[in-house]
Amino acid sequence: MNRLARQRIASLYDGRLQRCYVRTKLASDPVYAAVTALVAGSALPLLDIGCGIGLLGQYLHAHGHALPYLGVDHDPRKIAAGRRAVQHAGLAATMGLHRADVTELPTTRGHVALLDVLHYLPAGRQRELLQAATRHLAAQGRLVIRNVLREDNWRFHATRVEEFFLSSSGWIPGGAQHYPTAAEVCAPLGDAGLDVRIEPLRGLTPFNSYLIVAQPTGSDGGFPP
Ligand SMILES: C[S@@+](CC[C@H](N)C(=O)[O-])C[C@H]1O[C@@H](n2cnc3c(N)ncnc32)[C@H](O)[C@@H]1O
Repeated sequence: MNRLARQRIASLYDGRLQRCYVRTKLASDPVYAAVTALVAGSALPLLDIGCGIGLLGQYLHAHGHALPYLGVDHDPRKIAAGRRAVQHAGLAATMGLHRADVTELPTTRGHVALLDVLHYLPAGRQRELLQAATRHLAAQGRLVIRNVLREDNWRFHATRVEEFFLSSSGWIPGGAQHYPTAAEVCAPLGDAGLDVRIEPLRGLTPFNSYLIVAQPTGSDGGFPP
């Protein structure tokens, strides 16, 4: 995404701090581009669980993808900020943002995104959320997860330091609860009969982040290279 497009999205949000966060996030984190590539050409709705301020929906729209986007997050401030941005962008017809816990998901079926959310839940709730996410997949849908994984390396420790500051600043009240291993994320997806692919996805960040993509076995197209 070029600088102008990043500025345009940032300008939809209130306040210098939030705009600066949006510009920096879009410039440094490849996760929105990765999701966009995985759902390109599909008209299925996308359920974004733990959507924050709805950046994924804005990114998709800026790249010409008009698929219906439904974001849920339990933080009322983020949902309010995201809704204001949707109004400013004139996207209320395709983008909906709702305040809800991950246990109160709407009934849509399509693609599902779960970006940097799992570790804010305890281990048992992570497993339940992964199982719930698979039930929201359409036959041709993709479940796209990005998360830090528990590994003994410097990136994992850098992530823990960042999470400490995120929690202390009040951006993510409560903070990290449990950092999952790759097996903890992939096992419930495999048990649900999905094909699973996992690869590092860090961009310019120092964090121990991975992209995990799951889709029903035999769905058309297979995984992109
Ligand atoms: C690091 S942010 C990621 C935001 C967004 N997915 C993105 O990548 O732009 C994690 C989000 O998960 C949300 N979250 C954490 N626990 C949640 C829960 N139990 N129910 C709903 N949302 C939750 C937080 O409010 C926060 O917005």
